[in-house]
Amino acid sequence: MSLQKFLSSLDELLDDAKQSLDEVGSSEQLENLRVRFVGAKNGAIKAVQKLMGAIESEHRPVAGKRFNEVRDAIQSALDLATERLGGASKAVKDPQMDPTLPGLRPQLGQLHPITQTIEHLKDIMGRLGFSVTEGPEIEDTWHNFVALNIPEDHPARDPLDNFYLAAASKQLQNPTDRDAMLLRSQTSTVQIRVMETQSLPLRIISLGRVYRPDAPDATHFPMFHQMEGLWVDKNVSMAQLKSVLRLFATSYLGSDVKVRFRPSFFPFTEPSVEVDYWWNGNWIEFGGAGMVDPNVFQALNIDPEQWSGFAFGLGVERLCMRRFGIVDIRDLYRSDVRFLRQFAS
Ligand code: DAH
Repeated sequence: MSLQKFLSSLDELLDDAKQSLDEVGSSEQLENLRVRFVGAKNGAIKAVQKLMGAIESEHRPVAGKRFNEVRDAIQSALDLATERLGGASKAVKDPQMDPTLPGLRPQLGQLHPITQTIEHLKDIMGRLGFSVTEGPEIEDTWHNFVALNIPEDHPARDPLDNFYLAAASKQLQNPTDRDAMLLRSQTSTVQIRVMETQSLPLRIISLGRVYRPDAPDATHFPMFHQMEGLWVDKNVSMAQLKSVLRLFATSYLGSDVKVRFRPSFFPFTEPSVEVDYWWNGNWIEFGGAGMVDPNVFQALNIDPEQWSGFAFGLGVERLCMRRFGIVDIRDLYRSDVRFLRQFAS
């Protein structure tokens, strides 16, 4: 190809580009022109550039120089037109924007599975006549141990098994001190608070957090929830305790659930049992229960000859996990919404 012919095709291209870009009136047209002139694949500049290979080598420096000038001039004209149209519209510039796609649904929050479980348990127990009470998570040793008949040398009071709180002086308090404070290790504390303040008879449940310094694994977490129950009246019996826990289990887990009571020991109940539910081929321990120990009544100036009662404490996470098919307690507390979203209420 002759140099002359090459240069004149460059001039033609430049004239054409300038004229079209001067007249361009919309972003869409501008985008078409951009593709037509400087498009990386089939743009006119690209096409002219290819012709350069056919030019004799002695003329190539001149051809190349002019080619660069024309290319830059077209680019400037494009920039100018873009500016004149108020910047390329986003829709044209961003090929990922597809206005025909359906919109994104706004995400609604939902209750955490544990909160859902707590609501469900309150509902079932409410139908059995239990009203809901709350107690503080920061407790003193009187409510967490002493009044519950847990003596000073009992292993449950070991500082290694409890979150005792440092006093204002930042010194660890003496755990044998009746006023030493700790994060409650059980909701049984609420039994004491209720019997201190409410008149008998009473029938309450209390659901809330408890704390123990356990290393987290699939079934342990340093914070978990319990449902405490207490029924005090004249002539409350072990038979009633078993009926209530059985009714609760069938309401919550289904009519085919089996319940087993194993003799056990708790300082605040006598006799005491552990409660297992048969579920999906296994016996699973859900908590403890028993008849309120006369020592507990006496610590609160309640006459054990006149009053009797039963109490129970169940693990809320276990109930929740059984029902929702969750196998690792830590998943409940990772705050991963992708996990939690599965358990829509
Ligand atoms: N507080 C006990 C625990 O955390 C559970 C418990 C057992 C509660 C027997 C009770 C009860 O009310 O009667 O292991």
